[in-house]
Amino acid sequence: MPTTTCVFDAYGTLFDVGAAARQAASEPQYSAIKDDWMVLAEHWRLKQLQYSWLRAVTGAHTDFWEVTQNGLDWALAKTDHGDDIALRKRLLALYWELQAYPEVPAMLASLKAAGLNTAILSNGSPDMLEGAVKSAGIGDALDVSLSVQSVGIFKPDAKVYDLVGAHFGCSKDEVLFVSSNGWDAAAATGYGFLTAWVNRSNDPMDRLPWKPAHVLHDLTGIPELAGI
Ligand code: LAC
Repeated sequence: MPTTTCVFDAYGTLFDVGAAARQAASEPQYSAIKDDWMVLAEHWRLKQLQYSWLRAVTGAHTDFWEVTQNGLDWALAKTDHGDDIALRKRLLALYWELQAYPEVPAMLASLKAAGLNTAILSNGSPDMLEGAVKSAGIGDALDVSLSVQSVGIFKPDAKVYDLVGAHFGCSKDEVLFVSSNGWDAAAATGYGFLTAWVNRSNDPMDRLPWKPAHVLHDLTGIPELAGI
């Protein structure tokens, strides 16, 4: 089937999750992380995701904002910044106004101009996604932000991917699903979507039973993959 619907993961795919720690590190008040902000950002992201998976397998669902804070608290403690209340507050505030990667607005605009459906499908809560979409200025090029909140479980549970067909009334093979998370792109392949993994940092392929159909280094090739 030709692609009718392009669906994007949010954090790390459309929005630069490293930007919060990078921005804080550049501000004189938070110079405490000028040398280790990358390590802090990596621990933060990894713990946030681990907690989402652990909550999914144990049935202990919560808001993504809570696991985002829990992940940050672990990362701050790990990097010896656990007592820095002002830094914690600043990093969390920055998470609500993440920038989109530079190629995102033009890429989404060309999908919309070609008449395709466009959506975010994310672990993020609706208010987090609304904040990020607004601050990145990409709301006009997105039909909808679909949040796991309505199904009460995080990715990669199939109930999350089901939200796409339920919203657009399309079949799985009409969907191009795009994620910078190798595990998310892989699981979506297993689910039945055509997938693209955006591998910005040249990471090795995840060793999982499924593989993404395409691997890109950024989002500029998405319109072509969608058949435009
Ligand atoms: C999301 C995370 C997994 O946006 O990046 O769902």
